[in-house]
Amino acid sequence: MIIAVDGPTASGKGTIAKALAEHFGVPVLDTGLLYRAVGYQTQLNHGDADDAADALAACDFPDSLLGDPALRYETTGGLASRVSVHPAVRAALFQRQVDFANQPGGAVLDGRDIGTVIAPNADAKLFVTASPEVRAQRRFAEMQKRGVNVTYDAVLADIHARDARDTGRADAPLLRAADADLLDTGDLTIGDAVQRAITLVEALT
Ligand code: C5P
Repeated sequence: MIIAVDGPTASGKGTIAKALAEHFGVPVLDTGLLYRAVGYQTQLNHGDADDAADALAACDFPDSLLGDPALRYETTGGLASRVSVHPAVRAALFQRQVDFANQPGGAVLDGRDIGTVIAPNADAKLFVTASPEVRAQRRFAEMQKRGVNVTYDAVLADIHARDARDTGRADAPLLRAADADLLDTGDLTIGDAVQRAITLVEALT
C-alpha cells in the first residue's frame, strides 16, 4: 500500500503522514527533509545544489543527516524551496523516493509531487491544504512558542513566497493530482484532520 500525501507548507501534511504511517504500520518519508538537506548543505559549503543533491542521493538518505535539527529551521525551508526548482536536484533525489515508495509492505511519503511524479500509481492520494492565512497563523503561533522573534505579516509573506515558488516551478510543481482526495484542514483540529485522513485512506485501500 502506497499512500501519497501532498500539500503546501504548514498544511498539516507532515503530522497527517506520520499518523497514517503509524495507523497502517508502514514506514514514512518526509521528502521535504531531502530538499532541506540539499538547501542546507549547499549554503553551508557555499556549493552547488546539484552536487549536494548527488552526494545525498549517493549516501542513501542517512538518518544522521536527516535528523539534524537545523533542517527544521524556517530559513532552511526557504533554502529548500530555492534549490528544489533545479531539475538536476529533483532528478538526483527521484530514484530513492521511488524505491522508498515501492518497498515491500508499502509506505507513506509526504511532499509536493508524490501523487503526481514519485508515486503516480499510489493506492491512496491526499492533497492536504488550508488557506495561506490559516497556515501563517499556525506557523506564527508555533514560532512564538519557540521564542522566535517574528511578525505574523512576515510569516504570511514567507508562506505566499513559498507557495508561489512551489506551484510556479516548471518541474514537478505543487499540484493536486486529478485522483487525489482534498483534505482542507482549515476548520479542523489536528486530531480531527488525522481521523478524516484515516477514513479517506481506508475507503481507498
Ligand atoms: O515540506 P517542507 O516544507 O519541508 O519542504 C521544503 C521545501 O522543499 C518545499 O517548499 C518545496 O520547495 C521542496 N519540496 C519539493 N518537493 C517535495 C518536498 C519538498 O519541492 N516532494
